[in-house]
Amino acid sequence: MDSKIFLSEQDLPSAWYNVQADLPWDVPPPKDPATRQPLKPEQLYPIFPKSLVEQELSKKKWHEIPAELMDVYKLWRVTPLHRAYKLERFLKTPARIYYKNESVSPPGSHKPNTAVAQAYFNKKEGVERIATETGAGQWGSALSFACNIFGIKCVVYMVKISYQQKPYRRDLMHIWNAEVYPSPTDRTESGRSILKENPSSYGSLGIAISEAVEEAAKNDNTKYSLGSVLNHVLMHQTVVGLETQKQLKIAGESPDVLIGCVGGGSNFAGFCLPFVPDKLKGKKIRFIAVEPTATPSFTKGQYLYDYGDTVGLTPLLKMYTLGHKFVPAPIHAGGLRYHGNSPLLSLLVHHKVIDSAAYHQNPVFEAALTFARTEGIIPAPETAHAIKCAIDEAIRCRQENKEECIVFNFSGHGHFDLLSYDKYLSGTLEDYELSDQEIAKTLKGLAAD
Ligand SMILES: Cc1ncc(COP(=O)(O)O)c(C=O)c1O
Repeated sequence: MDSKIFLSEQDLPSAWYNVQADLPWDVPPPKDPATRQPLKPEQLYPIFPKSLVEQELSKKKWHEIPAELMDVYKLWRVTPLHRAYKLERFLKTPARIYYKNESVSPPGSHKPNTAVAQAYFNKKEGVERIATETGAGQWGSALSFACNIFGIKCVVYMVKISYQQKPYRRDLMHIWNAEVYPSPTDRTESGRSILKENPSSYGSLGIAISEAVEEAAKNDNTKYSLGSVLNHVLMHQTVVGLETQKQLKIAGESPDVLIGCVGGGSNFAGFCLPFVPDKLKGKKIRFIAVEPTATPSFTKGQYLYDYGDTVGLTPLLKMYTLGHKFVPAPIHAGGLRYHGNSPLLSLLVHHKVIDSAAYHQNPVFEAALTFARTEGIIPAPETAHAIKCAIDEAIRCRQENKEECIVFNFSGHGHFDLLSYDKYLSGTLEDYELSDQEIAKTLKGLAAD
C-alpha cells in the first residue's frame, strides 16, 4: 500500500463538525467573574465578532464553510495522511502507525485552519485590527498569514522567552505584515503590572492573552483572537479529523488509538472529535491527549472554573487547570505552556471519554529524533509529545503482540525550533516536575461552580 494517502480538493470537508450536538452532556457555560452567572452573548461582543460568538455558543451539528474560505483552505488542504512504515520497521512493531501531516500549511502547523476562518469572519464584520498572543510563534505566524490574506492588521504579543528563542518565527510574522511585541510589554496595564512584580519575567501564554484582550477591549477597531481553547476554534480544526476519517477509510483502517498533543486543545480536538460519536456508541477507540510534565493540566490539574489569562480579564471557564497564576517552566514546547485547557475537551476528560498522558521534554526530544531519523520530518517540540506517546503505544503492541492501528496528529514541523534541538543534542535540556504542594498553591481560591 502507498505510504501517503491523498484526497482530491473536491473531498475537502464542506462543513465544520460541532461535537456538542452529539454529546449527552452540556459544556458548562463561561461565567461572568463579577456575578458568577453564565455570560450573556453581548458581553463577548467588545472582543469577538458576533458571528464567532454565535459559533461559540452554537449546538448546531454542522457549520457550512463559506466558499471564499474553502478557496483559501485549498492553498494547503487536503493534507496527506502518512503510513509511518519506516518508523514501524525501526520499532519492530506489529502495530500500523499513521500520522496526519498538518505541517504542510504555509506557516507550518494546524493553526491556520482556524486563523483563516477567524480572519474571514472578522473581515465580514468590518474589523480592522486583530490582537492576539503567541507562545511558540506558530499561532502568531498563522494569524499573521491569515490577516494578510484578508487585509487586516495583526498585532501579536509573543511570550518573551519564545521571542528571544525563535527570531525566525518573528520574521515570518513581519513578512506577513504583523506587529510583534515581546510580552510582558509596557504597552498595556496588564504587562506593566507583571513587570512591576517581576521585571525579568520571561512571560507566559496567560500573560500574553491578558495583553491582547486588553488591547482589543480598549480599541474600537480591534478585536481579539484566540488560537485554541474556545469551542469555535476547536470546531474550525475539525477539518483535520474529517479528512482523516475519509483517508483511513481508503486505507481500509479503523483506528484503535488516536493521539495528539495538547496545549489549549485545538489540534487534538480537531483530529479526534469527529471520532467521538463512534466511541459513545460503544466502539473501542482510545483517545490520548499528551501534555508536558511541566504543565500537567489534565494529568494533575483540577476541573474548576478559572480565568483563561493570568491577570483575570477573561470570563471564567470550567476546565482542567493548574490555576491562572501558575507560570510554566521554560520548556521548549512553547505552545503547550498553558495553565488551563479547552472546556470542551475538559468535559470529555472528566467523563473519561478521553485519556491523558504526560512526558518530560528529554524523552520527548529523543522520540522526535527517532521520528526525524526514520520518517525524515523534524517535528515541532509540541508535536513530538504526540510522537513519544505513539512510539510508546507501538512498543506496547510489540510487547503484547497486538496489531493495532495507531494514528496521531502531526501538528507542525520544527524548522524554527532548532535551538531547542541544539540544546537537546548538547545535553543541556532540563526536565521539570511539579509537586502537589506547588499545584495546590496556584489552585487556591478556585471553585467548581
Ligand atoms: C505545532 C503545535 N502543536 C500543538 C500546539 C498546541 O496547541 P493546541 O493544543 O491548541 O493544538 C501548538 C501551539 O502553539 C503548536 O504550535
